[in-house]
Amino acid sequence: QECVSPINLFEYEQLAKAHLSQMAFDYYSSGAWDEITLQDNRTAFSRVKLRPKMLVDVSEINLTTKLLGEPLQLPLLIAPMAFQCLAHPAGEIVTASAAASAGVGMVLSTLSTKSLEEVATVDNGWQWFQLYIHKDRGLTRALVERAYTAGYKALCLTVDAPVLGKRERDQRNEFTLPSGLHPANLRKISGLDIPQEKGESGLLTYFAQQINPALTWKDLEWLQSLSPLPLVLKGILRGDDAVRAVEYGAQGIVVSNHGGRQLDGAIASLDALPEIVAAVDGRAEVLLDGGIRRGTDILKALALGAKAVLIGRPVLWGLAVSGQAGVADIISLLKDELTTAMALSGCANLQDIDSTLVIQSQ
Ligand code: FNR
Repeated sequence: QECVSPINLFEYEQLAKAHLSQMAFDYYSSGAWDEITLQDNRTAFSRVKLRPKMLVDVSEINLTTKLLGEPLQLPLLIAPMAFQCLAHPAGEIVTASAAASAGVGMVLSTLSTKSLEEVATVDNGWQWFQLYIHKDRGLTRALVERAYTAGYKALCLTVDAPVLGKRERDQRNEFTLPSGLHPANLRKISGLDIPQEKGESGLLTYFAQQINPALTWKDLEWLQSLSPLPLVLKGILRGDDAVRAVEYGAQGIVVSNHGGRQLDGAIASLDALPEIVAAVDGRAEVLLDGGIRRGTDILKALALGAKAVLIGRPVLWGLAVSGQAGVADIISLLKDELTTAMALSGCANLQDIDSTLVIQSQ
């Protein structure tokens, strides 16, 4: 039975399945190995309970904030996700347009199916560029220079993928891109493409061949010498790594386990958040992604110290169901839910959301 007009993010997922090939749906939805971390990202939110405050004037709810100096209409960004043209012909362009119209940020993946230059032409929005550091230093340098020239506001270096996590559904499907789709940023300068591989995910093979697994902290100096863009590290799960990130000059940290797609068994991102917020102690902006599906999830993440959150898969479901309107609706559903959740918690402003609002239950 088809649900005609989805009223929440879960219904979007159900509906999206019918709009996608099995290979695309599996690639988008899956996690690594037993998908324990993928599930735990969700259950971590149900372990945190809210302690709402009563008799507060909540007639006006203000959701606006800033991130590295850029304005946000709500504390939300779209997470970097590869290959969005699998969901819609205009892929990342449509996602960027929906983000810009709603006044939320977008992080464009290195592995986008529209080029970073095309995506940067979308009006009124701002974007960060997510970087995978390739073995070929010249290629990496060229990507950074292009992102800077095109007007991206920060570099978001993904640090949790020295090799690709084992997503068995992709292995079973021998994941590759259908003809006509390519990693646009890389093909343009180097002719690189996602291979077709017997018995293996082509993306896993791409990582093994092209991505530099020898990257360490000291390479961050080199990276920062390539452009004046601020650096955000995505994929930090420990307080000591967060402290190191700050020492190496990162201005932002994304607490993330890559949506459960890398190390299965890794801690849920929400569970990792408090230690990292305490370790960073205000010296960088701390963001979180993984499992955000409700306005109350955003409220809990903010209460535990995140400045903003990123959403991943639901954006792809919106894109698959109805393109730009679908992504806009995903953002709008979360915005409405967050507004209601804040009103019911006695928080009229984001600054009113503090750690007294939550308690961990076992
Ligand atoms: C991702 N993610 C990701 N991260 C990244 O740094 N670079 C990338 O290219 C991708 N690609 C990608 C593709 C797909 C299909 C998914 C689902 C995810 C991870 C992403 O940025 C984010 O960390 C998670 O998706 C957040 O979890 P949720 O919101 O999907 O639960």
